[in-house]
Amino acid sequence: MTATEYTNKLQEVVKNLQEALTKAETNQEITELKTAYLGKKGHFKALSQQIKDIPRTEKKEIGAVLNDTKTQLESLIESALATQTTTTQSWVDLTAPGVKPKLGHMHPVSQAMEEITHIFEQIGFTRVRYPEVDWDWYVFEALNMPKSHPARDEWETFFVDAPTDEKMGKMVLTTHTSNGQVREMERLNSKPPIRMINIARCYRRQQDATHTQMFHQFEGLVVDKGITIQHLKGTLDYFAEQFYGPGTKSRIRPFHFQFTEPSFEVDFSCHICHGTGYLDTKEEQKCRFCKSGWHEVGGAGMVHPNVLKAGGIDPDEYTGFAFGWGVERTYTLKEGLNLDDIRLLYSGDLRFLTQF
Ligand code: PHE
Repeated sequence: MTATEYTNKLQEVVKNLQEALTKAETNQEITELKTAYLGKKGHFKALSQQIKDIPRTEKKEIGAVLNDTKTQLESLIESALATQTTTTQSWVDLTAPGVKPKLGHMHPVSQAMEEITHIFEQIGFTRVRYPEVDWDWYVFEALNMPKSHPARDEWETFFVDAPTDEKMGKMVLTTHTSNGQVREMERLNSKPPIRMINIARCYRRQQDATHTQMFHQFEGLVVDKGITIQHLKGTLDYFAEQFYGPGTKSRIRPFHFQFTEPSFEVDFSCHICHGTGYLDTKEEQKCRFCKSGWHEVGGAGMVHPNVLKAGGIDPDEYTGFAFGWGVERTYTLKEGLNLDDIRLLYSGDLRFLTQF
């Protein structure tokens, strides 16, 4: 058999089915045709077995035609069945609830970023974005971490294989949003007041159940005359109440960062047990979400004079505070999500994502 003869046969089968379907009146008749044409002993099967008689050089092309024929037969049956159900249905129940279309929504992390932005915009902060591949200068050096300073080890850095700049140093994937501090001072020509909220992707060489190599941070920076720790504390309390709900408190504990002095770690009171560590007033049932009443979230402090200087601002005239931490953690805490594996957030798994 030649390829042309074979192709003709295939076309004929499609035509025959088309014709047969015009006469089929019930669902059952269509289903019978389906078996006759596409079943194990059907016309299509018989034809596909004849492909062995086709000369080898033409087999590949004919294979594609054969597949095509099958798809055609299938869709003929499918659309016949579909019209069958609609045309034979003689009544419509107008009171039946409609079928809701599936609507997409923003990723939970994007939702959190929008909310964080909104909360800070309410008190006069400006949302900014800075490069996520940046110079060593902005990520470390200008933040009072000279080359080979041991404090840099805290940030497990990805270096970019690109030419080094004499002043700016190497290019890195930003390990934190603090690279935005000196950039913001420069954007405003070193002229406070500064009220910045910088939200961006960060990258660190780490990957396990509680860390992803890519994550998001948000960073606040305020510089003006007479800014004190009280302003920092007030801002943290404000955020805690707005984001986690009324009554949530913040707590700062001494810590060390090269770019702030003094430096703090920031905790928020657990909004599930309201900071008591217990779920009941008799203090018998421990809160399993926090254990101690508080959640550590991130870092903060008063901007180091050397950082102000790097941004061209006179530290004798101005002071400032900064804070920064992860969006993912901030968000999962709020939802009361004890995620076994934070990587789920980025799995793209709709069974997980549609819950938020
Ligand atoms: N950049 C710090 C970190 O990633 C957090 C921080 C921001 C600390 C601002 C102090 C001030 O851990």
